[in-house]
Amino acid sequence: MKHIISAAVLASSLIAAPAMADLDLAKKSGCLACHSVEKKVVGPAWKDVAAKYKGGAGARDELIAKVKKGGKGNWTEVTGGVPMPPYSPRVADADIETLVDFVLGL
Ligand code: HEC
Repeated sequence: MKHIISAAVLASSLIAAPAMADLDLAKKSGCLACHSVEKKVVGPAWKDVAAKYKGGAGARDELIAKVKKGGKGNWTEVTGGVPMPPYSPRVADADIETLVDFVLGL
């Protein structure tokens, strides 16, 4: 019985681990100063970003470019026109891709 319980605990922590790592990367990269998963901070809630682009062709590339170069105009009604700052080369390209995949997967 003890084994079954610890196996279940281990399995659930393995499932949660990638999301935690991604959130950690977001924190390290400074994203969480303006974003949270659930609600608007300065930038839009990442859940809302995921919903807006769900299934959109090219959305991943578009968002990667946006995080690299910054920009505004897609969330004006939420942010009042505040721009998203550019993150390349401050944050490595591979990390930016990981972050965008994380956001789109929410
Ligand atoms: C200084 C505040 C700020 C920081 C820090 C910030 N963002 Fe943003 N972010 C914004 C704002 C404001 C917008 C809305 C831009 C717009 O209206 O198009 C945005 C939009 C976005 C979007 C949606 C883009 C779109 O065109 O729909 C993504 C994805 C995103 N941010 C990811 C990130 C990631 C990843 C980081 C960290 C590397 C980050 N943001 C850091 C303010 C910020």
